[in-house]
Amino acid sequence: EKQGFRHFMLKEIYEQPGVVRTCLEAYLDQDWHAGQNSETSPIHLNLSPTLTENLENIQILACGTSWHAALVGKYLLEQLVGIPTSVQYASEFRYAPAPITPHTLTIGVTQSGETADTLAALDLEKRRRGNLETKFQPHLLGITNRPESTLGQMVDEVIDTHAGIEIGVAATKTFIAQLIGFYCLSLDLAYQRKTLSEERIEEILDNLRYLPAQIELILESQERYIEELAHDFAETQDFIFVGRGINFPIALEGALKLKEISYIHAEGYPAGEMKHGPIALLDNKVPVVSIAMPGCVYEKVLSNAQEAKARDARLIGVTAMNDTEANDTFDNLLPVPEVEELISPLVTVIPLQLLSYHIAARRGLDVDQPRNLAKSVTVE
Ligand code: F6R
Repeated sequence: EKQGFRHFMLKEIYEQPGVVRTCLEAYLDQDWHAGQNSETSPIHLNLSPTLTENLENIQILACGTSWHAALVGKYLLEQLVGIPTSVQYASEFRYAPAPITPHTLTIGVTQSGETADTLAALDLEKRRRGNLETKFQPHLLGITNRPESTLGQMVDEVIDTHAGIEIGVAATKTFIAQLIGFYCLSLDLAYQRKTLSEERIEEILDNLRYLPAQIELILESQERYIEELAHDFAETQDFIFVGRGINFPIALEGALKLKEISYIHAEGYPAGEMKHGPIALLDNKVPVVSIAMPGCVYEKVLSNAQEAKARDARLIGVTAMNDTEANDTFDNLLPVPEVEELISPLVTVIPLQLLSYHIAARRGLDVDQPRNLAKSVTVE
């Protein structure tokens, strides 16, 4: 049931505040406070200690949008917990697996839980490690909204993202839920390994708790404007999305969403890479969407945006609502609430979902069932 929405994709975009709320309620301990010596983690994932003790490496296997969620996960696991983390396309890994490292957790991320490549890559990992000595034994964790899926049966444990079933082929609510899964995992590990202080963990958790209201605010305040803006791009043939750091995967995700439902060619790049080639593509026909949130790469992203502007590109900025400086740089703004950089992917992805939805809808396309795509890719 679309419940009054034109498409399932739009309905699912609007379900995101609720999905975030449900996932956080499932895992966060409401009564935990820093400094109370409770000796229990504020995040209750109930993972068995054998899965996370002595961990030295993490490898994440996924495809498509889930692979983008994995890239945000890598950022969190490396920057907050300090565990070397690699992210592999499952379709590549299954034919060229990385060397076997000791004390390694393998995480499979898939919303359907049925993606053939992801399952095959996990199965390979299980088989090739199965007969080795203890430190090389497989430890498999799944992140999915479908714990009952084949993935769920294959892995040792699952983080259920509580997003429910998604009907629109373009992943939206399941993506944000996978991100929440990675925040919970990273903060739990940071607590166990004491790589963050309890005060810092509490601060991040409080910021996560504001998210549902902040996402609601974006949906309420931006959708009408984005729908208008989409008119300008009905004939556009190419788009570039740029971001840096924790928002680089969101640039990739913005580009993937746009290409899969609007059939407009789009690329995502880390903003600093533009000058190594892609900048040659720019002219006044190629809009550039730049994610420029306050944080350690803000100034860099702005100067990368100005380089694009010098090539006559139309610049659209995903910026903080109170950022007045951004006005001078960008032709159009997609403002989101100011949040700390670490949390920002959870808000910056929302206007990009709306933008691709409205461009595709404006072009009269079948948003929920784009050509050549299936919700669950169960063949190789
Ligand atoms: C993008 C999209 C696909 C999937 C990919 C993996 O909107 O839907 O790129 O993300 O096919 O699917 P799952 O997560 O089911 O493994």
